Amino acid sequence: MVKRADLKRDGFYKAAKREGYRSRSAYKLLQIADKFEIIGRGDVVVDLGAAPGGWSQVARELVGERGLVISVDVHPIAKLGDVVILINDIANEEETITAIRVALAGKGRNAVDLVLSDASPQLSGNKDLDQFRSFELSASALAVASALLKKQGNFVAKIFQGSYYTQFYNQVKEKFRDTRAYSPAASRKRSSEVYVIGRGFR
Ligand SMILES: C[S@@+](CC[C@H](N)C(=O)[O-])C[C@H]1O[C@@H](n2cnc3c(N)ncnc32)[C@H](O)[C@@H]1O
Repeated sequence: MVKRADLKRDGFYKAAKREGYRSRSAYKLLQIADKFEIIGRGDVVVDLGAAPGGWSQVARELVGERGLVISVDVHPIAKLGDVVILINDIANEEETITAIRVALAGKGRNAVDLVLSDASPQLSGNKDLDQFRSFELSASALAVASALLKKQGNFVAKIFQGSYYTQFYNQVKEKFRDTRAYSPAASRKRSSEVYVIGRGFR
């Protein structure tokens, strides 16, 4: 739990309040998108672990009018313009893939250009367990992405650094032409999170 005093000192938190983003995390995606050029106008973006919706807001802005954003979380997400909101547990991979396919068909789309996952497990305080749960979520995100992405599509997923990190990085590397790891400036200093970015789905 982040202390209120910490939040007050946090420039990205203040900026998010000021600029109307639902989370300070929005700045992480802005930094990733800027550095890796993974979101284009007209793209179809799937945002996994999307609540409260900061990344979806950023994705919606970047894809423009012709684009589409589908947001998925186990928790409800408050209405966000024309963003499609689905309540699903991404660990139920097949169910999630089907729900997204149905949503895509409803919008007359089938190809997905980008799959994002900022999904985080509920922290238990046990580092090893939290790292493992983070790995499981990231692996589910990769499975969902593998079922939906078009050829040359892109992928971004958060994972906690630790024993499973290299395994996940290598799994992404197998499926994408170019794989990078990145810690955006907007990530908190003490955070062990890292984003794995896969470009060019094979
Ligand atoms: C750090 S928050 C995401 C913040 C979001 N990117 C934003 O900018 O607002 C992590 C989210 O992952 C979601 N999550 C965790 N496990 C999940 C699962 N199995 N399926 C779907 N969502 C999950 C949580 O409910 C939480 O909303």
